[in-house]
Amino acid sequence: MNGNKRYLPLLLLGFSGVLTIFACRSRAISKGNQSNNSGKTATAYRAFHPGSTWYDKAGDTINAHGGGFIFVNGKYYWFGEKRGRHASEGVNVYSSPDLYNWRWEALALAPDSTGASDIANGCLMERPKVIFNQQTGKYVMWFHLELKGQSYKAARAAVAVSNHVTGPYRFVSSFRPNNNMSRDMTLFVDDDGSAYQFYASRENYDLRVTKLSADYLSASPEDRLLFSQHREAPAIFKQNGTYYLVTSGCTGWTPNKATLHTSRSIWGPWQQVEANPLKGPGADSTFGGQSTFFLSVQNKKDAFIFIADRWNPRNLRDSRYLWLPVQFQNGEPFIEWKDEWNLQVFE
Ligand code: DGJ
Repeated sequence: MNGNKRYLPLLLLGFSGVLTIFACRSRAISKGNQSNNSGKTATAYRAFHPGSTWYDKAGDTINAHGGGFIFVNGKYYWFGEKRGRHASEGVNVYSSPDLYNWRWEALALAPDSTGASDIANGCLMERPKVIFNQQTGKYVMWFHLELKGQSYKAARAAVAVSNHVTGPYRFVSSFRPNNNMSRDMTLFVDDDGSAYQFYASRENYDLRVTKLSADYLSASPEDRLLFSQHREAPAIFKQNGTYYLVTSGCTGWTPNKATLHTSRSIWGPWQQVEANPLKGPGADSTFGGQSTFFLSVQNKKDAFIFIADRWNPRNLRDSRYLWLPVQFQNGEPFIEWKDEWNLQVFE
């Protein structure tokens, strides 16, 4: 008895320490945390917290950078670069019914460990985007590929295909679309099912677009220069017949100011909007991020989420995600910082 009493102050101290740690963690990530069997914290999110560490349903940090999204049978799928500290480790895919809570599904495309292919271990796979081809019934992934040991010299687009949204994806080929260098890229499927690759070309000085072949597996000869302003990180959406294209400057992993171009046709002419589409403090550095995608929210009209990466070049895996709603004023889109928000902003 006496012995137990002696340890009581120590016990109380320990208990209050645990409480403090738990309280700090809860505050940092959200409400509704639950520890799972592996001792990790699974969080039930009800809001977006731009720039905060985002955990998947297993309590692991979401590892899906330069991402792209597709909606299939009631679920969103998030494809993105799986990163080590610096290594490129393939393409991860996560799923979610509500956009807040994500389940890791698979490594949709793994680098080739045999070493004999364009996607041999050590290659760089960046900015993966997946679209569905109605005619072939296949999911088609495009990404920016750099060959092993060649830094950013190869400047190729690469294509992989699968019968299932979560893969595994089979690598098809890599190439320079119409012999043009191709680095940062995105895909866009128009209302008529035609798909396009927007890509940074000629050492990133040119922003180009090419229409994909009917099966989406290659670039068609229809290919055009949109503008030569040394831009990268293209992200596009369409509203009321107008196409909106956000790009970044070319400063490696360091953030810079985004610009917005608009056009009534994919092929142009594209006009630069003078005003920065991002508003408020931090807007001139894209809030520390770089554009990657506009996600169209299902069953809501004109509801788009601007998605950007806040890169951490010292540890790419720990790069953060900035999700912010696109708002409209007098028909012009703009994006404002929010510490926390939810889909009700679209109502
Ligand atoms: C900026 C690009 O947008 C990223 O995807 C990546 O390629 C980095 N440059 C590499 O420095």
